[in-house]
Amino acid sequence: TRVALAFSGGLDTTVCVPLLEEEYGYDEVIGVTVDVGQPAEEFDEAEETAEALDLEHYVVDANKEFAQLCLDSVRANATYQGYPLGTALARPVIAEAILEVAEENDCTGIAHGCTGKGNDQLRFEAIWRDSDLEVIAPVRELGLTREWEQEYAAEKELPVEGGSGGDWSIDTNLWSRSVEGDELEDPSYVPPEEIYEWTQAPSGESQEIEIAFEAGYPVAVDGVEYEPVELIEHLNDLAGPYGVGRTDSMEDRMLGLKVRENYEHPAATTLLNAHEALEALVLTQEEREFKQLIDQKWSKKGYEGLIDAPLVDALEGFIAETQERVTGTVTIRFEGGQARAVARDSDYAAYSAEHASFDTETVGKITQEDATGVAKYHGFQRRLANEAIAANVED
Ligand code: ARG
Ligand code: SIN
Repeated sequence: TRVALAFSGGLDTTVCVPLLEEEYGYDEVIGVTVDVGQPAEEFDEAEETAEALDLEHYVVDANKEFAQLCLDSVRANATYQGYPLGTALARPVIAEAILEVAEENDCTGIAHGCTGKGNDQLRFEAIWRDSDLEVIAPVRELGLTREWEQEYAAEKELPVEGGSGGDWSIDTNLWSRSVEGDELEDPSYVPPEEIYEWTQAPSGESQEIEIAFEAGYPVAVDGVEYEPVELIEHLNDLAGPYGVGRTDSMEDRMLGLKVRENYEHPAATTLLNAHEALEALVLTQEEREFKQLIDQKWSKKGYEGLIDAPLVDALEGFIAETQERVTGTVTIRFEGGQARAVARDSDYAAYSAEHASFDTETVGKITQEDATGVAKYHGFQRRLANEAIAANVED
């Protein structure tokens, strides 16, 4: 009997390998690492650990598919409690890829190393429980703590270094890097600069770049076209040095627990800000207002790892319709840890400089004086109501 394990080579997934044999009775464990843009060292670590464990190991490249999903999330202005969805969007992509490997290799079980406290267990299992495989969560089911894992690993002489991230639990993909655990669990603890790898502390420097959008998708930076993966990587490189896209949050997880989370996401913040600036230029007020509701629902399903829900398809219908006009360019200035839109331009602008300007009196058939009637009616109903209240107080 064989079981496929979501494998990173970190402490949690490494201890899962012998446990799947000892505690769950599987004859053979297959490790699967899915590439969604982690740094090269992580694959080296996974590869080396797999080799030392004599584990059959597969690496699946899902960068393209994941990058596309990240850009879909830009069209939906997707964030959760103020930060861009990174881990959340990657999980279903990873889960699908592992399930495919499991089925191809005639596995009867499928396992992850997530704890029973977090979101990732829910996101993985939502996908896996669509299949008939036995879903196994050793860390949760055996009630493992990191301390127990460390002792067990030492006892079994498992190949675990302290790991590249020391005692933090780090999750990296193209869209964001999340750092949690250890001293960071204390909300009053100020994170040291060394938790960051993609961003530098903001300096006094600034830089401007121009991002071109077509139908809501970013397609070029400073006139050079990029495929999604390269575009995101390029923007991470450009924005990171200005300290763009750092989040330190008390996150409300799906189970209801609050957790202290630190993230860095320079490209995501840049693209989300640019996209919103372009929408502000081309969409009507009522479209913008209504789209906020659509975007919120999309983000919620994204956070839950349920991006394949029929609701999301329906939301995408509305999004696609509005995005046809989200074509144009936005200039972003990186400065002081911010990626701020400082200019925008589109053939679809729902804007008339002529009409809005303080310097023109009459444009076409509309004059300033035409607003007088509107001004007379504005707030009329509340005037009547307040007068009635005042009259009754006097009585
Ligand atoms: N809490 C975040 C989320 O649900 C990030 C979790 C990242 N996992 C990790 N092991 N650092 O998206
Ligand atoms: C975990 O608890 O395994 C990682 C964090 C999360 O799932 O939210």
